[in-house]
Amino acid sequence: MRIILLGAPGVGKGTQAKLIAKEFNVCHISTGEMFRAEIAKGSNLGKISKEYMDKGDLVPDEITTQIIGERLKCDDCSNGFLLDGFPRTTAQAEALDKLLNEENKTLDKVVLINVKDDIILERIIGRRTCKQCGTNYHIKFNPSKLKEKCESCGGDLTQREDDKEEVVTERLVQYNKLTQPLIAYYNNKNLLSSVDGTLSVDEVFHEISSLLIS
Ligand code: AP5
Ligand code: MG
Ligand code: ZN
Repeated sequence: MRIILLGAPGVGKGTQAKLIAKEFNVCHISTGEMFRAEIAKGSNLGKISKEYMDKGDLVPDEITTQIIGERLKCDDCSNGFLLDGFPRTTAQAEALDKLLNEENKTLDKVVLINVKDDIILERIIGRRTCKQCGTNYHIKFNPSKLKEKCESCGGDLTQREDDKEEVVTERLVQYNKLTQPLIAYYNNKNLLSSVDGTLSVDEVFHEISSLLIS
């Protein structure tokens, strides 16, 4: 199965992607997590991406498309993948179509998660992310039973660098300008389904799961 999770910052893409990838045995590919891993390593790619991410801007298409091209070739993607945070521009969507075409593969579904901006802000500002495995928590809506530690791996929970209010606002502006056109792009290809992201984590998971098996 080849799936895209589409939606604004903070709608719950990462939270759902981890659950769906496990349930459907597909690999979870988050470009945001890939960039954050490069930043943590101190690589050249990390240094370049950080400049954009800290401002809430998108990393340039050429860089993002290249890392996705390499990632999709990995063996763990042979059973399918779930893309979280990619594509984010029309150019990226076209590049993905091209990559899949070359391998005679197609997308199965694009799931749009809808949440209003005021709820998004509250979710992002309260988010805590595991330094080691990337699992997301929320201080109010989805707290870790181990307080400041991750339930999955025991890692420390931290706040993301780009989760300051002014950066989040800019990420939303970029989403509305550059990523929102992908809703029509995939709707025209008859691939798009939407879910209400304001429901609980479990309810959203059930909604997405039933879309994927239908
Ligand atoms: P990325 O890491 O992809 O961030 P994002 O799209 O802004 O999305 P988030 O990760 O902030 O939110 P999410 O939807 O995953 O929500 P989450 O599950 O955490 O990208 C970061 C940056 O990298 C970009 O700004 C850009 O610079 C760069 N980048 C990445 N991809 C790129 C690309 N393709 N091209 C160019 N640049 C790229 O949930 C949020 C919070 O809500 C959590 O605390 C969670 O616990 C809570 N929550 C989740 N679901 C629920 C629920 N149902 N009810 C209550 N709370 C919930
Ligand atoms: Mg995420
Ligand atoms: Zn962890």
